[in-house]
Amino acid sequence: MQEAMNGQLNAEIFSGYLYLSMSAYYESIGMPGFASWMRVQRLEELTHAMKFFDYIAENGRVRLAAVDAPPFEWDGVPGPFEAALEHERKVTGLINGLVETARSEGDLETEEFLAWFVSEQVEEEETAEKIVDMIKSAGDSTEELEKLDGELAMRT
Ligand code: FEO
Repeated sequence: MQEAMNGQLNAEIFSGYLYLSMSAYYESIGMPGFASWMRVQRLEELTHAMKFFDYIAENGRVRLAAVDAPPFEWDGVPGPFEAALEHERKVTGLINGLVETARSEGDLETEEFLAWFVSEQVEEEETAEKIVDMIKSAGDSTEELEKLDGELAMRT
């Protein structure tokens, strides 16, 4: 269980790294609101990582591993958010896998700890889906994309 939890700690750190790379990408294509949203998301991923860090440290030993390099390029404005949705679906699968491991080991404490992440993943997927839909609705309209950029800039 501890090994799997350390694996998830690495995955959450990677998520932060991924969103930070997406932020840099949006900055480079002149979308500061999208970039800012991704920066906030990166902080959220770090709080996820620290929840795992603290839980593992309380119950055993944290082992930090190398973090993969995130992608550098995406396709236009929709690219990163489509990738984010796909990524969050993958993370949901990882969390569900951890729940299964906890259950199979009769580790009720870890199962309870993971319950927060099960709900959080529902939210993470819903948010990414919503923004992918908003980008699709904006289509190629520069005016609509700039309006959306302004809305995303509001996230704190
Ligand atoms: Fe840590 Fe975006 O899930």
